[in-house]
Amino acid sequence: MQNISDDVLREYEHLKDELNQHNHRYYVLDEPSVPDSEYDRQMRQLQDLEQQYPALRSDDSPTQRVGGQALDAFTQVRHTVPMLSLENAFSDSELQDFDRRIKERLNYSALINPTDIEFACEPKLDGVAVSLLYKNGQLVRGATRGDGSVGEDITANVRTIKSIPLKLRGESIPALLEVRGEIYLPRPGFDALNAKAMQGGEKTFVNPRNAAAGSLRQLDSKITASRPLEMCAYSVGQFEAEVIPTSHTQMLDTLGGWGFKINQHVQAVTGIAACADYYQAMAERRDKLTYDIDGIVYKVNDLALQQRLGFVAKAPRWAIARKFPAQEEMTQLLEVEFQVGRTGAITPVARLEPVFVGGVTVSNATLHNGDEIKRLGICIGDTVIIRRAGDVIPQIAKVILEKRPTNAEAIVFPERCPVCLSSVKRTEGEAVARCTGGLFCGAQIKQAIKHFASRKAMDIDGLGDRLVELMVDAGSIYSVADLYDLTVQQLAGLERMAEKSANNLTAAIHASKETTLAKFLYSLGIREVGEATAQTLANNFGTLEAVIGADAEHLLEVDDIGPIVAKHIVDFFNNPDNLAIIDALRDAGVRWADIDQKAQASQPLKGQTWVLTGGMEIMSRAEAKDRLQALGAKVAGSVSAKTSQVVAGPGAGSKLAKAQSLDIPVLDEAGFIGFLETLN
Ligand code: IVH
Repeated sequence: MQNISDDVLREYEHLKDELNQHNHRYYVLDEPSVPDSEYDRQMRQLQDLEQQYPALRSDDSPTQRVGGQALDAFTQVRHTVPMLSLENAFSDSELQDFDRRIKERLNYSALINPTDIEFACEPKLDGVAVSLLYKNGQLVRGATRGDGSVGEDITANVRTIKSIPLKLRGESIPALLEVRGEIYLPRPGFDALNAKAMQGGEKTFVNPRNAAAGSLRQLDSKITASRPLEMCAYSVGQFEAEVIPTSHTQMLDTLGGWGFKINQHVQAVTGIAACADYYQAMAERRDKLTYDIDGIVYKVNDLALQQRLGFVAKAPRWAIARKFPAQEEMTQLLEVEFQVGRTGAITPVARLEPVFVGGVTVSNATLHNGDEIKRLGICIGDTVIIRRAGDVIPQIAKVILEKRPTNAEAIVFPERCPVCLSSVKRTEGEAVARCTGGLFCGAQIKQAIKHFASRKAMDIDGLGDRLVELMVDAGSIYSVADLYDLTVQQLAGLERMAEKSANNLTAAIHASKETTLAKFLYSLGIREVGEATAQTLANNFGTLEAVIGADAEHLLEVDDIGPIVAKHIVDFFNNPDNLAIIDALRDAGVRWADIDQKAQASQPLKGQTWVLTGGMEIMSRAEAKDRLQALGAKVAGSVSAKTSQVVAGPGAGSKLAKAQSLDIPVLDEAGFIGFLETLN
């Protein structure tokens, strides 16, 4: 046995506590306390110590979350307290029935008990139920629900989930505690997992629940460790402690104190009408959550009442689940159309038998590209599962092969552009096939003009998509430069265009000539050059001539420009047709002020990341963003340890709170304007 000094022991315990604390702040409270670099440094120190003194290594060490030796099989676990399921309610009236049944059973009468029942309302997380057993504060076992009586031992896998405490935190640690909750995969993690599978041409998961279940079923816990699973606690099974809470919400608070993640939308309300209101409020928030929920769970909050109510068969009488409309439905693929985008990219779009899913009627879904068609193995006539969760476009999650009709037709990717008949080419290593017609292709011309006119580009008010299509089809315009030659008479001749609108539109086209270099660069529609890259180019080069003259090597010196973007930029300006259009635009009077090279060289906010949140009253948010970007700052949408400064206006909420918890400096609008003045 190695001799371990007290100093080493103390250092080891200190590092473990620190890292467990960082984990808790990061994974349970969503409030990181230290930058990643500091976390990594402490983790390396702990690993070094354990390497040097292997006897130190304990099960609750944060180093043990990476997964260990693969198992041959899972062993079975009998649940001392059975893991129940929930009854479902599908309408408000079924919810009222639930309330009535409870009151009857408790012999409530309006005369004797004029008060209503208090319910805990919780999102029903769409994942996998888990039981976690703690003896004297140490996690000793994790198990699946199985059939409710017997589940499987997944201890090695649950240890890798960072929001699960390996050791309970805080005071009054119970001798025995079995925590129950849901393990789930938040949507960003699910999307990333599927994107990777798609790239590799592998099978994807239908939904985050399947992905979470699949990740927990791994005999190799290293695979589980690589999946960003989370766990929220929602009840207890076995429990031996000195003080036992009296309500469910108190119990959740206690569990929170011991280090468990508790869903932040849990709320206690009185009366079943308030339960229905909670359902409506959560239904509206559902799309904005970063994880899937499939309904609301209502639980009688008073634990003594729960006890009196007891169980029927496999479900408690004191709880019920009210389901949301499904986020997955089955429908049929009727046809596939091939659309041509601004850069000639050909996208197969599935036309579907309309189906109500995730709160909207879906009749189209993108099939992305030819590889995706192959990967899904999809044919016209197939029955498919459509998934629409979050604010995202509907996806075809799966083809149900058993339902394939005998007359199913293979999908043939076109060899010629469906709009201009030019040949279709696919560059080596790229998933996308493109029409080679360039600005000879009507579809590409239309998309290029729509992009040019859009708000963040030249911002031509009143030039909508439909109008662009009409004008290109009528032969009134062939390129963006032609817009500036349009006359009121020409426009007034178009379908549904009155003289007044024609006047307004020509005025808007005229007004758009006054722009900025960044907007002009963005409006050209160079591949991979979005708003931010256009701004970076403008800031770094100052003039259009300098951008046109820059070679790949020169472009690569600019932060955020990689070899692919650089190549697209060089290719764009090497094309004489593009240069002719730029000349025509400048001849038509499109102009901007070049960026002062001296101011540009100083770029006082270079390297900083700013976040704008809440309302602005004096300056518009777009203007604030433009100013910051011109000064070299990046403007991000969310606060993290990397944020340099936050500007918070009235109504600022979670971003402001997060900034405060991370000690990130915050300015109000007046302070921000004052700060900008100091830079002038
Ligand atoms: S309570 C006896 N609360 O829904 C009460 N369950 O059929 C048992 N679930 O498999 C469950 N979120 O995994 C409860 N906030 C929540 C829940 C929840 C999701 C799952 C649970 C169970 C199923 C119920």
